[in-house]
Amino acid sequence: MKKLALVVSAICLSVSAVAASDEPVAARKALMDANAASAGLAGAMMKGDLAYNPAIAKAALLTLNASAKTFGSFFPEGSQEGDTTASPKIWEDAAGFQAALDKYMADTSAAVAAAGRDGPADLDAFKAAVGPVLGNCRSCHENFRVQQN
Ligand code: HEC
Repeated sequence: MKKLALVVSAICLSVSAVAASDEPVAARKALMDANAASAGLAGAMMKGDLAYNPAIAKAALLTLNASAKTFGSFFPEGSQEGDTTASPKIWEDAAGFQAALDKYMADTSAAVAAAGRDGPADLDAFKAAVGPVLGNCRSCHENFRVQQN
């Protein structure tokens, strides 16, 4: 338990270190990489590659929620240039992008609330909590990310 708390605080520290940086593209990619790590953990437990552990499940949900809350701060005007896969639609349809962010925040907050104090009791409870969160990855990328082939 102590070890896990350390891991979670390390994640929080690295997120705030990035947030202090004035390099918005690097910051938002780092947040998305943290998303990918948490989604990877969730996927591994759902597939049975990793034994289900409620504390790890909760840590993954908290990380997704933290990045959902912060991500939208890193799209200033002009940051559509450079080494980024952010679509120009983010700036052209700012209201649509905000709606996608709001949905992501709401879904991750609901998942954290469902996890309770000790994390989802079993794998089925975890699947029910994290399922709606994971649907956001694809829909936001389809709408607001330049497609990679
Ligand atoms: C609200 C919109 C939105 C949601 C939700 C979202 N993403 Fe992203 N994601 C983006 C955008 C925009 C980029 C491009 C960032 C850039 O290159 O500047 C991106 C980039 C990424 C990247 C590439 C980062 C890099 O280093 O280039 C990964 C990996 C990723 N997302 C994973 C995820 C996962 C996993 C989820 C769901 C748990 C998710 N994303 C949910 C918008 C979103």
